[in-house]
Order: sequence, then structure tokens, then C-alpha cells
Amino acid sequence: MGNRVPLIAGNWKMNKTVKESVELVSVLKQKLTDVKNREILVCPSYISLYAVKEALKNTNIKVGAQNMYFEKSGAFTGEISPLMLKDINCDYVIIGHSERRQYFGETDESVNKKMKVAFESGIIPIVCVGETLQQREKNETFLIIEKQIKIGVAGLSGEQMKKLVIAYEPVWAIGTGKTATPQQAEEIHAFIRKLYSELYGKDAAEDIRILYGGSVKPDNISEIMKQPNIDGGLIGGAALKADDFIKLVNY
Ligand code: 13P
Repeated sequence: MGNRVPLIAGNWKMNKTVKESVELVSVLKQKLTDVKNREILVCPSYISLYAVKEALKNTNIKVGAQNMYFEKSGAFTGEISPLMLKDINCDYVIIGHSERRQYFGETDESVNKKMKVAFESGIIPIVCVGETLQQREKNETFLIIEKQIKIGVAGLSGEQMKKLVIAYEPVWAIGTGKTATPQQAEEIHAFIRKLYSELYGKDAAEDIRILYGGSVKPDNISEIMKQPNIDGGLIGGAALKADDFIKLVNY
């Protein structure tokens, strides 16, 4: 089995002003200094990224963006370049979150381009996959996940294969209070690892971390984390409250 350090990541989505963001991480950095054997990540909005990164300098808490564009510079009004993220020492970037797929036209093809450019720029991508309720009810879950993985994470080389992070977030479990059961999640995580092994070999598949996301809370995280193929959480709502996030990290 690969040596997978659990990654507990907060996706703040479109919440918190710069001031509120800095306040939240000021509490987190005090309360989470002694955490061992966990990687901790917060993903604020673009506008708070720089201030949050500065506030977390020399701490054990990493910082990620929630999206980026796949070009490095140019006439793309309103977009953010991977080089800008790298310039402020952003560690991770979330790619292809279901909300971006649903509301902003993100596709498996654009996910793939963004993933590659993130790696080229020295930022670790967290590629999100997951089925909708309709797709699950039509028994299309495995088909959808297979397509999202085969197109979305194609074309990785060398060390990239081992560093990629994948997040499985069933769309029906996001923000709904309905978590996938740990067994439901494990089934998909094991399937993703098997697909990854077909693409990149067993060693890479054993090394990558696959996070679960969708209504993860302090009272359900430990059951979720007991599953052999679940290597962390991508947490929305509960990551916005210092107390909850601290509990989640210390599950
Ligand atoms: P919730 O934890 O609010 O369900 O959000 C999950 C999510 O989308 C994280 O990216």
C-alpha cells in the first residue's frame, strides 16, 4: 500500500471577505500547529488567497485555489492564470468541481487541460469527479466516473502520476446533508483507484490520494476515513467554521 498522508481540505466556495478569511485562518493556525500525520489545506476565494497565504506563512496549513484558467497569460478578461497562483506560492488548485461543471460549463476536456497546466506550473491539481442523482438512479455512476477519469486525468507523466489528487464528490451529497454511506463512497473510491491503475500502473495508483466530498461533518468523518481507499476529505460547509474544521482535521 502506498504511503498516503490523509489530506483534509476546506473548499470555502464563494464565502468570506478578505477580513473574515484572515480571521478564520488566524484561529486555525493557532489550534492546528501540533497536528501530525495530516496535510491541512484551505481553499479561499481568489480575492482572499494572497492575504490567507501571507497569514499562513511558516505554518503547517497549505493554501489552494478553487479554479484557474488553462492559459498562462493573455487576453482572457476575468480569468486567473496558473502563474499568478504560483507567484503567491499557492500549493494546490481544485479543478472541475461539480459546481463549475454545472454552472460554468466546465467539461472533462477543460479539466484535463487545466490539470496539465497546473502541474507544469508547479501547483498540485485536485481533480473532482462525481455523478448526479439522476445518473445514479439510472445506474450510470460507474460509466460517468470512468469517463471523467479517463478523459479528465489523461496524459500525466513521471512524478505527476503520483502527486495528483482526485476528489470523489457525488453531486447529490453536496450541501444537502445527505452523505454517501462510507460503503457507497468506498465502492467508488476503489473503482477510481482500479481505473487509475489501468492508466498509470499499480504503484502510482497506490500513491495517489482520493478524497471524499459531500456533507462531511465532524460526526461522520471518522467512519468515512476508516475506509481503505478514502484518503481525506474535501469539505464545504463545515470548513467555514473554525471549531468544525479543527474537529475534522483531528478526526
Ligand atoms: P459540503 O461539505 O458543503 O457538502 O460541500 C462539499 C463540496 O462540494 C466540497 O468541495
